[in-house]
Amino acid sequence: MKVLHIDASPRTVRSVTRKLTSAFINALRVKHPGLKVTHHDIGHHPPAFISDSWVGAAFAPADHNDPAMKGVLHHSDELTTELMATDLLVIGSPMHNFTVSASLKAWIDQVVRTDMTFKITEAGVEPLLKGKKAIIVTSRGGFVAGTAYDFQEPYLRTILGFIGITDVTFVHAEGVNEGEQARETAMTTAAAKLIELAKGW
Ligand SMILES: Cc1cc2nc3c(=O)[nH]c(=O)nc-3n(C[C@H](O)[C@H](O)[C@H](O)COP(=O)(O)O)c2cc1C
Repeated sequence: MKVLHIDASPRTVRSVTRKLTSAFINALRVKHPGLKVTHHDIGHHPPAFISDSWVGAAFAPADHNDPAMKGVLHHSDELTTELMATDLLVIGSPMHNFTVSASLKAWIDQVVRTDMTFKITEAGVEPLLKGKKAIIVTSRGGFVAGTAYDFQEPYLRTILGFIGITDVTFVHAEGVNEGEQARETAMTTAAAKLIELAKGW
């Protein structure tokens, strides 16, 4: 099983999502000692935003072989190929302004790639990723799950589904800015859920 672990929080020791994704990966390692995990700290080292030349290259005909285009897409190709080879995607996603952080959006823009993770056919859009699972760990200062203020879970479900990742489990730590007690409870509850999930793998 190949795991791709992405942390999108810009914070370090105070990050709730980092603590939780790390608890999940550690629990998974207990069960599978030889587990292969690739970790990307996009919160501290975000992928580039897509550019004019990136869009031109990504949507050029598949048989193009322009070296400049290949250069522009090189990092995106690497990130996308890595996702294509992954069995389990684990994302730590802080809620920022009701949705995902800019770093996670930048990563998504790099891996939603025509003819790699989705393709456009006469019948419409066809997702190209198959058989993958995702665990998304979010943290929110307030309580927004299931409300009109949550543009994070619905967005992630939609975009992951668009490329074929439909087996997605969300674990939310909510109310972490509602006082020490609420933060502690949110983190303990989310960690327990994640450890339980890891046991099932
Ligand atoms: C720039 C910024 C925007 C935020 N926006 C929201 C928000 O819209 N709703 C919310 O409930 N919490 C919001 N928060 C609180 C974070 O979601 C919360 O601190 C969470 O723990 C962040 O994850 P992290 O600890 O892994 O960085 C925001 C925090 C920051 C720094």
